[in-house]
Amino acid sequence: MTGLFPDTRLRRTRSAAWSRAMHRENQFTPADLIWPLFVTEGEAVEEPIGSLPGVSRWSVDAVATRAKEAIDLGIPCVALFPNTQADRRSDDGAEALNPDNLMCRAIRAIRDTCGHDIGILTDVALDPYTAHGQDGLLDEAGYVVNDPTVEILTQQALNQAAAGADIIAPSDMMDGRIGAIRRALESEGHVNVQIMAYAAKYASAFYGPFRDAVGSGGLLKGDKKSYQMDPANGEEALREVALDLSEGADSVMVKPGLPYLDIVRRVKERFEVPTFAYHVSGEYAMIEAAAAAGAGDRDGLVMETLTSFKRAGCTGVLTYHAEHAARLMHG
Ligand code: PBG
Repeated sequence: MTGLFPDTRLRRTRSAAWSRAMHRENQFTPADLIWPLFVTEGEAVEEPIGSLPGVSRWSVDAVATRAKEAIDLGIPCVALFPNTQADRRSDDGAEALNPDNLMCRAIRAIRDTCGHDIGILTDVALDPYTAHGQDGLLDEAGYVVNDPTVEILTQQALNQAAAGADIIAPSDMMDGRIGAIRRALESEGHVNVQIMAYAAKYASAFYGPFRDAVGSGGLLKGDKKSYQMDPANGEEALREVALDLSEGADSVMVKPGLPYLDIVRRVKERFEVPTFAYHVSGEYAMIEAAAAAGAGDRDGLVMETLTSFKRAGCTGVLTYHAEHAARLMHG
């Protein structure tokens, strides 16, 4: 009889480093990283973010330098998030449509410094621009209205594409926004601008430090449960992904990451499309807190986490650990 002990000893292939390397099923590489960067006003500014130890907001010039470093580290793409000045936030988030807003200036600065050697992914949603911290427009009752929000998001996406964005990433969870944005991009000639849909984005407790980073946390009243998904739902995530693909998404994202790896796996198996995960701010902060408390080795925690994304089926991962992980991988 074969396949039983002692004919089969699974420890045999684990017994030497060369053999473990040879039998490794999944390997995370720097090309699997997307590096989220926070942008703020000023020049030569680095502003540490208290709730995200090791992560800073950078002025436009400094963000371009970070993008240059990303290229040197083999990181193919950066994701930009603006910390809009308080006096530029409004109920309708109109600053999102300003061709000279922080986001657009950062896109142009990166393009000037790096040419087309790096991808620039931009977040489409109104929360960094609204005085109330919600991702869309509110009616009198404080409900985020879908269709008028989609109209503004479409203009926001066109504004980013005109500034030179490569990948438009709507994170707002309005219905129908992928189709609306795709049609607008096509009619404006942006046929090669991609859309990465935050397709299955959950109303998560893991976004807190991000909201500090873009300055929307203190402004936000209530929650985002009328548009972001219920963490209890899996089938609904598949419906979200199916719709976004049918509307023209080039790739999809699951967010947060680790607590939702089952969703990543189901999406990958069902649709066989490029599937990304966002290892979000609260997940980053958890690893940093664990390492700082001596509860685990930081490098080990980071690489094991990233490898698990790959094993679950991810094409790539947005993570605040991008620079650190890339440096580790380069030895
Ligand atoms: C906003 C947006 C959020 C994140 C990315 N885009 C926060 C939210 O939905 O409130 C969170 C990312 C993170 O926590 O790292 N549309």
